[in-house]
Amino acid sequence: MQTVVITGGTDGLGRGLALHYLRLGAHVLVVGSTAAKGEALPAAAETCPAGGRATFLQVDLTSVAAARELVTTIEDGCPSVDKLVFCAQRYRLFGPRTVTPEGFEHSFALAYLSRYVLGHGLRRTLESASRPVVMNVGTPGVPLGRIHWEDLQVTRRYSGTKATLQSFRANDLLGAAFPAVHADTPIRYVCYNPGVVATGMPDHLPQPLRALTKTSFAVLATSPEKAVEPMIRLLDEPPDPAFTAYRKTRRLRLTGPAFDLDSAMRLHHLTRELIRDR
Ligand SMILES: NC(=O)c1ccc[n+]([C@@H]2O[C@H](COP(=O)([O-])OP(=O)(O)OC[C@H]3O[C@@H](n4cnc5c(N)ncnc54)[C@H](OP(=O)(O)O)[C@@H]3O)[C@@H](O)[C@H]2O)c1
Repeated sequence: MQTVVITGGTDGLGRGLALHYLRLGAHVLVVGSTAAKGEALPAAAETCPAGGRATFLQVDLTSVAAARELVTTIEDGCPSVDKLVFCAQRYRLFGPRTVTPEGFEHSFALAYLSRYVLGHGLRRTLESASRPVVMNVGTPGVPLGRIHWEDLQVTRRYSGTKATLQSFRANDLLGAAFPAVHADTPIRYVCYNPGVVATGMPDHLPQPLRALTKTSFAVLATSPEKAVEPMIRLLDEPPDPAFTAYRKTRRLRLTGPAFDLDSAMRLHHLTRELIRDR
């Protein structure tokens, strides 16, 4: 039986993937911060019995320590992990800058640091699977935002959009660095942009942006059920190269600053230092 770990698996794209792999008979570990959503998942999968194969892990992934504990929990409970998918995200595009108790800016912590800790931390467990794959779901291929090298925690001229976009660009570099950090790993690392998908994401936006986004979603967005189809194909048949990036079904060229290896390694080393004592 294959083991699939999905952060943000209680909602949206992550939930769509979780339901798919539960129906296929996989052991699916879903990570989210809301217990009610996680506990509702096995029933939604309509698998009989999904019990025992659906594991909900309630973790606040804004915490590096909690992400580290999650690595240990998964290592202790699973001899191998076949697929690791990162979907946990909560946009804070407006409002004041918020900092986690560990001292990290919210988007940096949730959308980037948790993926750094889990991807590198679960490497051995992934390498025990026959065809391991990591999928980092974000916005590769979108030329917006940059890494604020001198101010990664966005303390100066903060805006939620600036911090969110930086976390996306950091994830592009996280993928680019992975095979360089772990030479000869059998893990295939895929950065994936699903396009516009009608998930619950706008529910957390302030009005009137929430209403506007929902209206535009109704016209423009793909349903989560449809959007996960190409993701499932990539997860089941990972591409040959150790690192690839896709925007829906289109493979992206790994040229330009988004995937620059020097920048990727620079961010890797900076991040390792930042979280060393957390
Ligand atoms: N939807 C789109 O149009 C779109 C477009 C491009 C890229 N993406 C990317 O696709 C991924 C999935 O997006 P989505 O639209 O499916 O999101 P979503 O429906 O808003 O779901 C977000 C997930 O993240 C979890 N989460 C939020 N905060 C968390 C925390 N502190 N700790 C643990 N889990 C947490 C949520 O679970 P709880 O509520 O249980 O915490 C939920 O399962 C994201 O990385 C997003 O950036 C989405």
